[in-house]
Amino acid sequence: MKVLVIGSGGREHCLVWKISQSPKVKKIYCAMGNGGIRSLAECIDIKETDISGLKKFANKEKIDLTVVGPELPLTLGIVDEFESDGLRIFGASRESSKIEGSKSFAKDLMKKYKIPTAKYQTFTSKDKALIYIEEKGCPVVIKADGLAAGKGVIPSKNIDEAIAAIDLIMVKKAFGDAGNKIIVEEFLTGEEASFLVFTDGESVIPLPTSQDHKPIFDGDRGPNTGGMGAYSPAPIVTRNLHAQIMQEIIIPTIRAMAAEGRRYKGVLYAGLMIDDGRAQVLEFNARFGDPETQPLLMRMKSDIIPVLEATIEGNLSLQKAEWDDRASVCVVMSSKGYPGTYQKGFEITGLKEVSKIKNLEVFHAGTAIEGSKVVTDGGRVLGVTALGHGIKEAVEVAYSAVKKIHFNGVHYRYDIGNKALSIS
Ligand code: AMP
Ligand code: GLY
Repeated sequence: MKVLVIGSGGREHCLVWKISQSPKVKKIYCAMGNGGIRSLAECIDIKETDISGLKKFANKEKIDLTVVGPELPLTLGIVDEFESDGLRIFGASRESSKIEGSKSFAKDLMKKYKIPTAKYQTFTSKDKALIYIEEKGCPVVIKADGLAAGKGVIPSKNIDEAIAAIDLIMVKKAFGDAGNKIIVEEFLTGEEASFLVFTDGESVIPLPTSQDHKPIFDGDRGPNTGGMGAYSPAPIVTRNLHAQIMQEIIIPTIRAMAAEGRRYKGVLYAGLMIDDGRAQVLEFNARFGDPETQPLLMRMKSDIIPVLEATIEGNLSLQKAEWDDRASVCVVMSSKGYPGTYQKGFEITGLKEVSKIKNLEVFHAGTAIEGSKVVTDGGRVLGVTALGHGIKEAVEVAYSAVKKIHFNGVHYRYDIGNKALSIS
């Protein structure tokens, strides 16, 4: 079969890598891809937001299955558009992806269906928001309602920080129309974990647990990024907690979406805060996480294609997925300056040498090919991902490779996986 993957990051390189291992797959295209994806797929020059261009391509090339990585095309309705032409596509519909595209929608859904989450209020007026914050007291978290590439969430320790956050979102419009509405939320403490499931709207196949590292610097300091590393499993999610998450969060959310006329098909990603052995939802995403997908799919032993197909066809209950018992760790290597501004075009060396390391994959994110060189082409550049017997071994293998890879201005965290080691 012919598969089209939409997206250009580390998550998409990992999806292409996993899909390429399926005996059912003969050819993979990727829109738009990156320097690493190029070796496994034919990269095509159509933007992820050009839905009609992508649909035309899929029709022309008779694509059998399209897999969507990022949230933006989902919220723009790529799944509905493709399905209206009878094209098979994996991802949440426009109506379902609202669970990520509008934080107020997600919060109202959770409130209505009693899914555990932080207390909140929604505001379209800056002044009313400030009165509420003064009444409730800080700390609070201020969130832009719409999509903001992971940057629209601002924790505020005191009223001055809250004023600055509201100003940035609602007055300066740092995230455009995504900031027309804000959510002011109770500040939760604890440890975060990511919980992803495949669902056809009724049945669920949970992926193993994982944990992201959002802040740019060691010790979770500095501004939030798209994610500087991830590991799986997340030992904070005990067997009991796993059951609570399934019973109180995942199943009720999928039922709630169906009850609201938004049957959810695809990957549902719950970002959780865990405190005192209980989980609350910080956010939902309507897609695979990046970088969580890298360690998760390294651990997936089964062919991913039948799982994706069963999700689309609504017969996931007949499917099983097998996972490697080993742990996996992904260390993201980024450009100096990210998540702010950064330079591109620096040569990356050491990739050939690390390709010989066993149980290791280097997933490319912001890379490009220039002649015979691989060069940096984005904020997050590479996701160096290893398997090991336990997190400790996976960490050692991943960092042994990271140390051999160089580019001008390279940055990475030295403490990916440490939290798991302190728990287990
Ligand atoms: P979100 O995009 O909503 O997951 O927010 C991004 C990050 O902000 C999360 O991964 C948390 O680190 C933090 N965050 C979001 N909501 C809260 C909250 N209510 N309390 C504390 N931290 C939060
Ligand atoms: N790693 C966080 C996300 O994919 O949203």
